[in-house]
Amino acid sequence: MPKPQPQTTVLFVCLGNICRSPLAHGIFQHLVNQNNLANKFQIDSCGTGDWHVGNPPDPRSIQTAALYNIDLTTQRARQFDPSTDIQRYQWIIPMDAANKRDLIKLGTPKPQLHLMRSFDPTLKTPQDIPDPYYGGDHGFEKVYQMLTIACQGLLNDTR
Ligand code: 4NP
Repeated sequence: MPKPQPQTTVLFVCLGNICRSPLAHGIFQHLVNQNNLANKFQIDSCGTGDWHVGNPPDPRSIQTAALYNIDLTTQRARQFDPSTDIQRYQWIIPMDAANKRDLIKLGTPKPQLHLMRSFDPTLKTPQDIPDPYYGGDHGFEKVYQMLTIACQGLLNDTR
């Protein structure tokens, strides 16, 4: 019997789990699939807040991802659960500094936490993935582009 391969576990975190982290999840899963690494990764996303638990991603995230043949429609929002997620996920990836602070307050050890844009090789100091929720549709395309660069960097660092 072949030995089961250890998996790399990655959890993307934002505030509501309907705009940014579902997009990050979809983009990273797509990249992993394209590289034939699906069996090596376990990927999920969640929010620090509970307002949207059980809901699908924001329609603007779904539409933006669909332009790039990425399907987010089966995702459902859930809240970060420190009692299980800290143990289950090696890489916990907040979208912005506020998400990171909230995760630290909830007991996440700092070595497990990496800001999403810390994987963007074009940035000297990591910046936030801005929250597009209250902005226009164009914000989602910008967020998509930022996430794509950072997800490629994350894959390089985790594979
Ligand atoms: P997200 O965006 O954190 O990228 O999912 C938000 C979605 C909803 C809210 C805030 C941010 N909200 O306050 O409902």
